[in-house]
Amino acid sequence: MAKAFRYSAILLCVVLVLLISGSEQLQSSQGETLLRIQRLLNYPSSLSSWNSSIDFCNSEPNASVTVACYEKSITQLHIVGNKGTPLLPRNFSIDSFVTTVVGLPSLKVLTLVSLGLWGPLPGKIARLSSLEILNMSSNFLYDAIPQELSSLSGLQSLGLDDNMFAGEVPNWIGSLQVLSVLSLRKNMLNGSLPDSLSNLENLRVLALAHNYFKGEVPDLSSLTNLQVLDLEDNAFGPQFPQLGNKLVSLVLSRNKFRDGLPAEVTSYYQLQRLDLSNNTFVGPFPQSLLSLPSVTYLNIADNKFTGMLFENQSCSADLEFVDLSSNLMTGHMPNCLLQDSKKKALYAGNCLATGDQDQRPISICRNEALAVGILPQQKKRKPSKAIIAISVIGGIVGGIALVGLIFLAVRKVKSGKTIRKSTIRLIAENASTGYPTKLLSDARYISQTMKLGALGLPAYRTFSLEELEEATNNFDTSAFMGEGSQGQIYRGRLKDGSFVVIRCLKMKRSHGTHNFMHHIELISKLRHRHLVSALGHGFEYYLDDSSVSRIFLVFEYVPNGTLRSWISGGHAGQKIHWTHRIAAAIGVAKGIQFLHTGIVPGVYSNNLKITDVLLDQNLVAKISSYNLPLLAENRGMVGHGASSGASKDLSLSARINQDEKVDVYDFGLILLEILLGRSLTSGNDVDVLQDQLQASITRDDAARRSMVDPAVRRVCSYQSLKTMMEICVRCLLKNPADRPSIEDILWNLQFAAQVQDPWRGDSQSSEGSPVAATHQPQLHITIH
Ligand SMILES: *[C@@H]1O[C@H](CO)[C@@H](O)[C@H](O)[C@H]1NC(C)=O
Ligand SMILES: *[C@@H]1O[C@H](CO)[C@@H](O)[C@H](O)[C@H]1NC(C)=O
Ligand SMILES: *[C@@H]1O[C@H](CO)[C@@H](O)[C@H](O)[C@H]1NC(C)=O
Ligand SMILES: *[C@@H]1O[C@H](CO)[C@@H](O)[C@H](O)[C@H]1NC(C)=O
Ligand SMILES: *[C@@H]1O[C@H](CO)[C@@H](O)[C@H](O)[C@H]1NC(C)=O
Ligand SMILES: *[C@@H]1O[C@H](CO)[C@@H](O)[C@H](O)[C@H]1NC(C)=O
Ligand SMILES: *[C@@H]1O[C@H](CO)[C@@H](O)[C@H](O)[C@H]1NC(C)=O
Repeated sequence: MAKAFRYSAILLCVVLVLLISGSEQLQSSQGETLLRIQRLLNYPSSLSSWNSSIDFCNSEPNASVTVACYEKSITQLHIVGNKGTPLLPRNFSIDSFVTTVVGLPSLKVLTLVSLGLWGPLPGKIARLSSLEILNMSSNFLYDAIPQELSSLSGLQSLGLDDNMFAGEVPNWIGSLQVLSVLSLRKNMLNGSLPDSLSNLENLRVLALAHNYFKGEVPDLSSLTNLQVLDLEDNAFGPQFPQLGNKLVSLVLSRNKFRDGLPAEVTSYYQLQRLDLSNNTFVGPFPQSLLSLPSVTYLNIADNKFTGMLFENQSCSADLEFVDLSSNLMTGHMPNCLLQDSKKKALYAGNCLATGDQDQRPISICRNEALAVGILPQQKKRKPSKAIIAISVIGGIVGGIALVGLIFLAVRKVKSGKTIRKSTIRLIAENASTGYPTKLLSDARYISQTMKLGALGLPAYRTFSLEELEEATNNFDTSAFMGEGSQGQIYRGRLKDGSFVVIRCLKMKRSHGTHNFMHHIELISKLRHRHLVSALGHGFEYYLDDSSVSRIFLVFEYVPNGTLRSWISGGHAGQKIHWTHRIAAAIGVAKGIQFLHTGIVPGVYSNNLKITDVLLDQNLVAKISSYNLPLLAENRGMVGHGASSGASKDLSLSARINQDEKVDVYDFGLILLEILLGRSLTSGNDVDVLQDQLQASITRDDAARRSMVDPAVRRVCSYQSLKTMMEICVRCLLKNPADRPSIEDILWNLQFAAQVQDPWRGDSQSSEGSPVAATHQPQLHITIH
């Protein structure tokens, strides 16, 4: 009995000791440091549960927040924010932030991703001398990578992707002896790579994609552990890099590599992914790459590879995707690629004898093969022009510039007789019964309407025909503003004195109200600070069969002119300042974001034009023309089965993604005009300008300034201008997938606004007036 008691007492002690040592108590100063970090980061939602009573060391880790401790000190801090949430405030100081972080001296792992950190990365971060993993991707860190990092002798992984670091990869990088991951994708780094990279014997991952590097890649054959090399989208070349044979993923696409593939490539026995596309490689394509034991992805598209393929060539069992398109290959496609449904093979644009994908005459491949052997010619590929609709809506404009509302053709009509009151009546709907209850149960909608309370717009409602007639003086010609394929636009004045814009849409017969209700429901949600918002609607019916004869859509009236007129000086020579241009761009981007994601289903492919962006009295930008589903359907353009053949086989999400990027391109055109301060005239113009803009980004500040509107040239800050140009160039990329998401755009624009120092010349002259009078350029104060 006593024995048993003694045993259980010992057991209890053991358990207690275990419990105590398990719940490590943090030094209080480190807890305070974490709370200070939370404050400096402006209380991001991922840290919402942090407060002074939380036990940091024993809090549950998750994908966005992890704190790990060892002997009362924090050794790992991992915070991942949401890209696209509001930026850190203007008074954020990266210097004080880093000063705070280095108050956790035992940190070995530090991840600060997508937190909107901005500024030059202070070298004092190297005071965290135990650091092994540093990941500060997806922020707005700029200037050079600080030299002080070279003292972090234990650094194993350095991730600075998706920032704005500039300059070259420093030579000291070679002194980080244990570095195994170096990831600098999507920055603005330039120059050629330092030879010291070849000292990094432990390097496994080297990712430098999407920068402005050029020249030959240094000899990396001594990096025997290198598994991932990603150099996509730079200007490396022309020689194929010298590499070890342990590579698992090798991506060299979109560079300037030209010389033939060395034979060693066929000895990369671990290689899974090989992407050589979009270079100008010449010489024979080694067929045996298809049978490398591990290969799953092989892309050599858009090169000048030659050689003959054989039907009896064998393929790796794991091979899933092969793209041989646009080369100079002859012979027959290997049967192993064509007969296995798990393998996808593309090979158009060669001279193969296999018939079903477009091939060129064999003489072309032979001749070109000869030509490239002797005189490698730079083939300039001009992709088919994206249809760029920059239609100048001249007609209506005048002072009001209320054009918007997608009508291109404009002509005056005698409208008085178009409404024959005798045969039709209008049933004023009761708002409470007119809306399906579904609408009210849609939480997203409700939260949106609550926000809209602050919009200063009256509630969405139905209008009676009488009310609309009164507002337009019986649809008098004096109220008429324009007409398009779908109907007419009138300006009206309601009883309360407010102006509205009314669109009258004539409906085909046999449309009952129920057919429209889901469209109306959608239109009723199109209310946002950056949209010319819908105020209501009314129906007009045929008397005989009660089908709808017309729909009236009532919108806000925005009287202050188009964004174009405010940029190109069409407003009595007045042009808005740089900060207001950025603000306008942010407004348009927010409007697009709302159209895509603020309502369900989203509204895409809006054919946005700068002339459809109107400014209100406070210069708030509003999109006046969007892809109203009702119009599209009446024209037979949307709806299931009516979509074009090409998009039919795309999955819905892929299609949405594509449509989203169409709007992003149009947004790029608007940005371009904002930067240049003049109207764009043709698609060709855009290509050339995009090239020039891109080139000036990598050159100096003076080159960039020489591109922009003289009216803002001297007031835009260095970083702000660079950011605006960069985002503009990316929006205009030919390949939709390469264009940024709207969230990404917004973030960058907000950054550009933030780094436009408000105390520079811009605001001094904008305090009273937001515009710069172009005929008085001496008003601008130049500050260096
Ligand atoms: C701290 O947060 C926890 C939940 O995360 C909460 O229960 C507690 O009341 C909070 N303490 C203070 C002081 O706010
Ligand atoms: C992760 O944990 C933090 C606190 O530790 C909490 O604030 C946050 O909401 C959590 N995030 C998710 C996605 O669970
Ligand atoms: C930044 O400004 C806000 C108020 O605008 C203030 O609450 C905050 O403490 C300031 N932060 C810093 C680091 O000065
Ligand atoms: C940095 O962290 C992000 C988010 O956790 C992750 O996706 C990315 O792969 C990391 N980068 C590196 C180089 O480890
Ligand atoms: C690289 O970029 C820096 C800063 O953007 C610039 O000063 C330098 O001239 C560029 N170097 C080259 C080789 O283009
Ligand atoms: C290669 O370039 C062509 C045309 O320039 C483009 O259509 C294609 O998407 C590019 N491929 C890749 C992988 O970037
Ligand atoms: C494949 O066929 C070609 C001729 O069609 C022949 O020369 C070659 O030896 C064959 N290769 C194999 C592996 O059977």
